[in-house]
Amino acid sequence: MNKDLTIIDTMEGLFSKERFVYIETFGCQMNENDTTRMVGLLKALNYKTVDEPHRADLILINTCSIREKAEHKVYSSAGRFKRYKRKNPELVIGISGCVAQQEGERLIKRLPYIDLVFGPHNIHRLKTFLADIYLKRQKVVSTDLYDTIDDGEYVATPIEGIKAFVSIMRGCNNFCSYCIVPYTRGREVSRPSKEIIEEIKEYAGKGVKEVTLLGQNVNSYGMSGGDVSFTGLLRMVCGIDGIERVRFVTSHPKDISDSLIYLFGEEDKLCRSIHLPLQSGSNRILERMKRVYSVEDYLSRVSLLRRLYPDMSITTDIIVGFPGETEDDFKETMEVVRTVRFDGIFSFKYSPRPMTLASTFKDQVPEDIKQRRLEELQRLQKDITAEKNRSLVGRTMEVLVEGRSKQDASELTGRTTCNRIVNFPGSPELVGKMVGVFITHGYSNSLRGIYKERSRLCS
Ligand code: 5AD
Ligand code: SF4
Repeated sequence: MNKDLTIIDTMEGLFSKERFVYIETFGCQMNENDTTRMVGLLKALNYKTVDEPHRADLILINTCSIREKAEHKVYSSAGRFKRYKRKNPELVIGISGCVAQQEGERLIKRLPYIDLVFGPHNIHRLKTFLADIYLKRQKVVSTDLYDTIDDGEYVATPIEGIKAFVSIMRGCNNFCSYCIVPYTRGREVSRPSKEIIEEIKEYAGKGVKEVTLLGQNVNSYGMSGGDVSFTGLLRMVCGIDGIERVRFVTSHPKDISDSLIYLFGEEDKLCRSIHLPLQSGSNRILERMKRVYSVEDYLSRVSLLRRLYPDMSITTDIIVGFPGETEDDFKETMEVVRTVRFDGIFSFKYSPRPMTLASTFKDQVPEDIKQRRLEELQRLQKDITAEKNRSLVGRTMEVLVEGRSKQDASELTGRTTCNRIVNFPGSPELVGKMVGVFITHGYSNSLRGIYKERSRLCS
């Protein structure tokens, strides 16, 4: 008999048994999306997801290494699962994501109870990895990086709810001096637009109303491997029937084009919100970060966006305590935050990462100074966000209803086009609908209101 067929038969037999998988995900939306892809692949292999790790036949930890703290979580999480292995020697424990890519074999040496280590470029090989573990009883480490995307590497995955996240590219070519992503996720490659559009159409057919396009730097979509520009792709996505809202993350300020900025005025479905990481308000630090824009460039993009779309939400990422950041540099960052009045900030203490240029800089900032700067920045932003949210009281905003509120099941939760969370009492029939909500309260992280009407309104 053909030897390959025997292996395939054995594989089919192997996956005819129902099994349970528990997945823990850390980090960014890319990782969340990778987890969704893994769930899709595993469903086809007869795995059901469970919320209790002790019931699982397979435990996967999808990891993040953007900061040292995130990396440490891998070890505490894996440590928690070790005891299940003692009770069930057949249990398979795997580590995927950026720490897997960064550490490879070292993870198996450090955590001998781990069976599987695979990086972000190898997710679609999960079936073969599991077959090798079960049939050949061997451990698997797969951390090759590729400059192209395989056919079928990204496919539509089972989706629940009305929102879908779709990777349009992977990797990053920017090599910001603090960032590990280009090393763990490899070079930038764009997916063909046809494949992306087919995936989104499939979601739309299953009731998805909102799609978020994902990439480390979506504005350079099409520059390595894609067939249209990012603006072209957005137009195509906005043209898909059934999709009512389109979002995207993350944008690099150096690549955000005028045509993209004007597109917000041309495409109704394009949500009025943009995440535009500033990182620092000091030109000297931006240069050392290799961000390739100045504060003035950044502010001119923001002022064009605000002039054209006064209600547009602009959020950002800021790192405090980058090597060499002086008190004056930090003050400049605070000044930009006061000037722009961001709708939200994700703020981080600089964390030296392996392989990165900035980790070799000698003038590292002491931890207590980083902590103090972070707290100061967060205090300032908390007041700005709360003020902005309060200023929306009295307005009726268009909300896409996502589901029941987690805090109070009698309430619904949804988001405005500018990505603010709105909670309000209402009937579950409204889930998936675009409704008008009259805002009665503005808090630091959300809005509250009362249901007004089920119709299209402007926000
Ligand atoms: N230290 C702290 N923050 C970092 N980020 C990326 N690398 C680091 C690092 N080494 C932040 C940046 C980026 C966000 C996703 O994480 O602000 O935009
Ligand atoms: Fe990291 Fe810079 Fe690429 Fe963003 S653009 S992923 S910060 S290297």
